[in-house]
Amino acid sequence: MEKIIEREHTDSKTFSDFGADKPPIERDARGVWHVRGYVQAKTILLGETLQAGFSSELARQMPVRITSPVLFQDGPEHREQRSQIAKFFTPTATQQQHLPVMEKYADRLIAEFINRRGGDLNKVTAQMALAVAGDVVGLTNSDRLKMANRLNAILHGDMNFGMSSPKQVWSYLKVQWNMLWFYLKDVRPAIRARKRAPQQDVISHLISKGRTGPEILIECITYGAAGMATTQEFICLAAWQMLQNEELKNEYLQGDQETRYHVLHELLRLDPVVAHLLRRAKADLMVGSAGTQVTIPAGALIDLHLNEVNADARAAGAEPLKINPHRSMEKGIPRSVMGFGGGPHRCVGEFVALAESDVFLQRLLRVQGLKIEREPDVLRNENIKGFELRNFMLTID
Ligand code: HEM
Repeated sequence: MEKIIEREHTDSKTFSDFGADKPPIERDARGVWHVRGYVQAKTILLGETLQAGFSSELARQMPVRITSPVLFQDGPEHREQRSQIAKFFTPTATQQQHLPVMEKYADRLIAEFINRRGGDLNKVTAQMALAVAGDVVGLTNSDRLKMANRLNAILHGDMNFGMSSPKQVWSYLKVQWNMLWFYLKDVRPAIRARKRAPQQDVISHLISKGRTGPEILIECITYGAAGMATTQEFICLAAWQMLQNEELKNEYLQGDQETRYHVLHELLRLDPVVAHLLRRAKADLMVGSAGTQVTIPAGALIDLHLNEVNADARAAGAEPLKINPHRSMEKGIPRSVMGFGGGPHRCVGEFVALAESDVFLQRLLRVQGLKIEREPDVLRNENIKGFELRNFMLTID
């Protein structure tokens, strides 16, 4: 059997189950295809598939017909929407428009953190990530802290609801209630303000395209999941790794932007915040594996295991389970491999996420006497299919 990983010690903080005997692609008893090889994952992401992650299949079953958010779209409709929103996420927009906001929030949050002599880092990074995602999207007309709580309640709601038991009906009502509250308190004020005075952000763009309030609400929740929850956890992960690895921390703090970004990509590669991408085959898909071709039939669900894909030595090179920001990568393979996804749905917010993480981490890791008081609990978030780091207590001597 073709192996993708040799079992060895791993520097990953959130995943240790790298199997030496797992094949690059296999079908389980329920008919779900599991993909752990880089080449196979890339073929699938570039093939004829439909987005099946982030509760998108549930959203497609909704009785009301609304225009889906970019993450849930596929094909020409998706390409069109991506090209329209790209301008909010370019390196230039990130530098000129979003960087000043990032610096302002990072300065304020770190100053408060120093005053308190530490605290739970995850709560601070939630505020940072929300402020930045809110700025890019245009959710800037309500209290940030309260908005963070409202969005968190939605992102941690049980989205696998049905109507067959009182518990499921209760989950459904709870999610609906949280969404209504978020709409009334945060989204509607932002829409009203932008109808009066449009700005350079996603909500203004959606209004100009005639999108309705509920459509803008769903789009905002998607950005909350895709942009806020991810960056909040990634910054914590990077801080955790660097606070326990003096050499890496020094290299990061003393390096130029390219060096610092290499460190961040490498940490994301080893601990991808979105750990699974889900797709449904739209047509039969031919995927090469171990010198043969397997056919994934149309309609089958495909689960891409990014921890293993990112540790496939054919993409990441030698000792793929170790941290090495200097690793030599094959031409054309991103340094975080699929940490930001791949193919048409590849993360549109990558530049924003890297800049924001870098701005925050540079300030945090320079705090004199900063140390870990309690390592975080590693939990799972089923909505983004990734990890969450909770109760990560830092202190300042
Ligand atoms: C470290 C932080 C981040 C990570 C690890 C991350 C990861 C990802 C991944 C893996 C995908 C692909 C999902 C798929 O193919 O099913 C994705 C898509 C997306 N991300 Fe990010 N992301 C981050 C930050 C952000 C930020 C800051 C924003 C915006 C403010 C953002 C907005 C999006 C959007 C809109 C999509 C959907 C793109 C599409 O479907 O065309 N992300 N992200």
